[in-house]
Amino acid sequence: MFNTARLHLSECLKYLRYSGQRQHSKHNTSIDPSKTKQESLQARQQEIMARGLPKRKRIKDVKQILLVASGKGGVGKSTTAVNLATALKIVEPRKTVGLLDADVFGPSVPVMMNIHESPMVNHDSFMEPLINYGVKCMSMGFLIDEKSPVVWRGLMVMSALDKLVNHVAWGSLDYLVIDTPPGTGDTHLSLVQNLFIAGALLVTTPQKVALEVTRRGANMFKKLDVPVAGIVENMSTVTCPKCMTEVSLFGNDTVSLAKELGVDILQKIPMHESIAEGSDSGRPIVLSAPKSKQAEAYKELAEHVVIFLSKQGIKED
Ligand SMILES: Nc1ncnc2c1ncn2[C@@H]1O[C@H](COP(=O)(O)OP(=O)(O)O)[C@@H](O)[C@H]1O
Ligand SMILES: [Mg+2]
Repeated sequence: MFNTARLHLSECLKYLRYSGQRQHSKHNTSIDPSKTKQESLQARQQEIMARGLPKRKRIKDVKQILLVASGKGGVGKSTTAVNLATALKIVEPRKTVGLLDADVFGPSVPVMMNIHESPMVNHDSFMEPLINYGVKCMSMGFLIDEKSPVVWRGLMVMSALDKLVNHVAWGSLDYLVIDTPPGTGDTHLSLVQNLFIAGALLVTTPQKVALEVTRRGANMFKKLDVPVAGIVENMSTVTCPKCMTEVSLFGNDTVSLAKELGVDILQKIPMHESIAEGSDSGRPIVLSAPKSKQAEAYKELAEHVVIFLSKQGIKED
C-alpha cells in the first residue's frame, strides 16, 4: 500500500509556487541596461523562439485525450465534459475513463461529480485521482478551498496545470476527457503543445456570439493540427412543460458554421432543468435519469466520440 498523505492547501500552494519560481528563474533573461526597451523585447522574443516549441508527449499509460472546448463561458463545456465522461463509462464499461478539469480559475468538476476531498499523494509524489461513478477525476478544485479565489499570474497557472496533468497517478486510461476554461488562451496552447491530443470537441450554443468564438477555437485547433471531433450544440431547444411544444430559443446558425468548418454536429442537447439539476447536485443526468431523452443524447454523443477516437489511432512517444 502507499504511504499516502492528503495534500493540504498550504502544501499545495507552496509546491506550485516553488515550481513557478524555479521555472521563472530558469528562463529569466538578464536585462542589459545598454539596450532600449524595444531591443530588450526583441532579444527576449528571439530567445523564446530559439528555445523552440516543446516536444509533444503522452501521459504515461493514457491512450487518448479528448479536449472539450469552446470560446465562450457558460455554454455548457463542463456539463458536457462531465456527462460525456460518465456516458463513456456507460457505453464502454470495460474502458477506463479519466476527467481532468483544466479550468484552474473556475473548476466545476468537484461540484458536478460530487467530489469534495483532497487527493492523496503517493510515494512518488504523484497525486491519486479521486474516483466517482467509475471516472478518475482531477481538478484544481480538489486542492483549494471552495470559497477561495485563485488569484495567480500566468506562470503559476501553467505550473498548476502541469501538476494536474503530469503529476497525477492516472494509471492506465483509455480515454482522458479534459474540460477546458473559456477562450483559446494559455491553457489550450499549453495542453496542445505539450500533449498528443486525439481530438477537440467544440461545445457551443446556437447564438451568434457563441458561434463566432467557437469558429476561432476551431481555427486554432486546425492550425495546431488537432483534429476537431465535431460540434455539440448545447441548449438547442427547450420544451414547454405545459403544451410540450419544442421551441428553439436561439438561431440555427450552427449548421452553417459546421459546414464552413467541415465538421459534423455530433449532438444537439436540449436545454432542460434536469441537466442543470444533475450538474448542481453532483449526479450527472446520464445517471440521475438514465432513460430520459437528455441522457440518451449524451450516450449517443459518447458513442460518436468512441467512433471518432477509434479512427485516430494512438500516438507513440
Ligand atoms: N443543456 C442544458 N440544460 C440546462 N442547463 C444547462 C445545460 N447545459 C449547461 N447548463 C447549465 O448552464 C450553466 C453553465 O454550464 P457549464 O457547463 O458550467 O458551462 P461552461 O463550462 O461552458 O462555463 C450550469 O449551471 C449548467 O448546469
Ligand atoms: Mg466550465
